[in-house]
Amino acid sequence: MSDISAVKDKYAAQIDSTNDLRTLDDIRVAALGKKGEIGKMMQGLGKMSIDEKKVMGPALNGLKKDIAAMIEAKKENLENAALDAALASETMDMSLPVGAPAGTLHPVQQVMEEMAVIFSDMGFSVAEGPDIEDDFHNFTALNFPPGHPARDMHDTFFMTAPEGEEKKVLRTHTSPVQIRTMINEKPPIRIIAPGRTYRCDSDQTHTPMFHQVEGLVIDKGIHMGHLKGVLMDFVSAFFETEVDVQFRPHHFPFTEPSAEMDVRYERDGASIKIGEGEKWMEILGCGMVHPNVLRACGVDPEQYQGFAFGMGVDRLAMLKYGMPDLRDMFAGDSRWLAHYGFNPLLQANLATGLS
Ligand code: DAH
Repeated sequence: MSDISAVKDKYAAQIDSTNDLRTLDDIRVAALGKKGEIGKMMQGLGKMSIDEKKVMGPALNGLKKDIAAMIEAKKENLENAALDAALASETMDMSLPVGAPAGTLHPVQQVMEEMAVIFSDMGFSVAEGPDIEDDFHNFTALNFPPGHPARDMHDTFFMTAPEGEEKKVLRTHTSPVQIRTMINEKPPIRIIAPGRTYRCDSDQTHTPMFHQVEGLVIDKGIHMGHLKGVLMDFVSAFFETEVDVQFRPHHFPFTEPSAEMDVRYERDGASIKIGEGEKWMEILGCGMVHPNVLRACGVDPEQYQGFAFGMGVDRLAMLKYGMPDLRDMFAGDSRWLAHYGFNPLLQANLATGLS
């Protein structure tokens, strides 16, 4: 028995003084391996008397277990220490600047983010709706009566539909998001809805897919002064300069009265200067939400009023950043993107400048 405790002490001392996993494994092999010391001691059992075996058998098994447990505990210690050392030496400084990113932010995305920043500063949130719409949301609820010629003006793309089912449309404007928002939310409402829109049209200033931002405010006591104030503040913030504007009467089925807003501009050689000058350029449509539209969404026009506006994002991007042809915007030419794109890590914000 004294042998056993001597063997145990010997290995305990070796395990204790080991500082690396490799030496520890050598100790394991020497003690517990097939040809190891404990195995040899166990072979000696064969030559013992039954009484001796009864004592030595369990004692040797216990020795084996004890040594295995000591090795396991030491292994865990060494592994933890190795992990701590790695964590300490392989730290990463998250505050270091990254290298120049390979991709750029598309000017349309940049402009939509600039608009979201400006309007969120005025208390608007961003709403979304589907690109594939039904007739109700795209037309009927917006006060386009069935068969009304205004529906044709939109050059609508119709989806195919099984016999007897209504054809869905690719939304011709972002105005259906107004309808979805008024149906799903209770006033007061203050949203903008940026997104893709589609019309069957293509030339230097029209593409079949284009982008709009819609705006909607519904509350008690809203009047046209609110509409004018919001839009005047918006254009000056967007063009990052004082911009003189005018509101011209217009017609949209979903607003009454309706207007278009023009900004003053002048040509300077090939470039366009927005804000001052002798000429006017139309940049958006707007108006007071028509009572029929409110009613279609379950909003009581006797209690609530509101205004709405809609503008083409692509054209505003062209005006602000001087891109000559709308079609280039969606051609996916990497040289164009490298030239007109924005650094995706520099987010638009009002504190340090939008662009
Ligand atoms: N939906 C109109 C269009 O695509 C734009 C528009 C005009 C939206 C006036 C509005 C609005 O919300 O009030 O031509």
